[in-house]
Amino acid sequence: MRTWIRSLRPFDALAVQTIIERTIDVREAERFIRLFHEENPSAGDPQPRLREVARDIARYGAYTHTYEELQFGARVAWRNSNRCIGRLYWRSLKVRDRRQVLSAEGVAIECVEHLREATGEGGKIRPTITVFPPDTPGLPGPRVLNEQLIRYAGYRAGSGEIIGDPRYVDFTERVRALGWRGPGGRFDVLPLVVQPGRGEPLLCNLPGDAVLEVPIVHPEYRWFEELGLRWHAVPAISNLCLEIGGLCYPCAPFNGWYMGAEIGARNLADVTRYHQLPVVAERLGLDTSTERSLWRDHALVELNVAVLHSFERAGVTMTDHHTESGRFLTHLAKEEKAGRVCPADWSWIVPPISGGVTPVFHRYYDNRVLTPAYVHHR
Ligand code: ARG
Repeated sequence: MRTWIRSLRPFDALAVQTIIERTIDVREAERFIRLFHEENPSAGDPQPRLREVARDIARYGAYTHTYEELQFGARVAWRNSNRCIGRLYWRSLKVRDRRQVLSAEGVAIECVEHLREATGEGGKIRPTITVFPPDTPGLPGPRVLNEQLIRYAGYRAGSGEIIGDPRYVDFTERVRALGWRGPGGRFDVLPLVVQPGRGEPLLCNLPGDAVLEVPIVHPEYRWFEELGLRWHAVPAISNLCLEIGGLCYPCAPFNGWYMGAEIGARNLADVTRYHQLPVVAERLGLDTSTERSLWRDHALVELNVAVLHSFERAGVTMTDHHTESGRFLTHLAKEEKAGRVCPADWSWIVPPISGGVTPVFHRYYDNRVLTPAYVHHR
């Protein structure tokens, strides 16, 4: 590697820089291989694999994970997600190995297939990740530019008002510049934008059968459905890199199932998102002239009741924040019993509603950063 870099002419300095930056760290690779063998005794002695990996990195500036290493790495990256309350089932993550898929069209097709498989027949959601090619010295991996595979467009209306999800106003403008025309509704599913390693980005509309959605209704208030609220069944994060043993997989969309409060206490409730608390409070006939009536809290509870009820009614997997808090502490105890620390970020673990009545509130956590991990690189 070194000799070859020295032989380059000076004006190739930028290219050299890129090559050096993308060249992977042998020590990271070694640490991962050791971890894999430690936790998977059936894989045997790590020495031969360590030698092979060191040789490949010296020769090519990269190495290739076996399927078992990739599967383990993706699962441990979930286990290491400090912000995730839902880690009890980290071992059940289904890993779709699509490292041979290079074209933007191929990536789009596999993302659609991911959604179909993850949604499951009748809404039994399966935690799933699809892993596309990693960045290598010669070629960056593909990327999905969307934050999640399924998200709703946000449009700036003439009056300065926003129709849809305000969080995605900028993204909606970017896809508009690429030629997408949305119908202008409150819940228009955005197209995927796939940037291949080489070449132009591809815009792709998700087929309807890949996007399960749930209309939000309330178990007691008939008027609730008139609010016209809905949400998609699968949260599939697509803009985090999966980092394993020094390799970076920039395109590795993954999903779990929703905890109701993510939708009921954030997406539909935040002032900077769908901002529905004043609307719900008004229909409930609450006194919004004073904070002391706790109209926001009251409306928030009814909205969350509606979200949980609607997913249940539709047969779509969803958890509530009380159950999930209990599970998280079970997970933490299991991890400690296995001799590991369970890293966690209190400010993300504590649910955005009724924090103090869930058990995760009443303690602190070790917030150290471990790898493999899902990381923001962009
Ligand atoms: N909070 C995000 C959303 O509302 C999803 C984050 C991941 N959530 C999950 N349950 N896996 O879309």
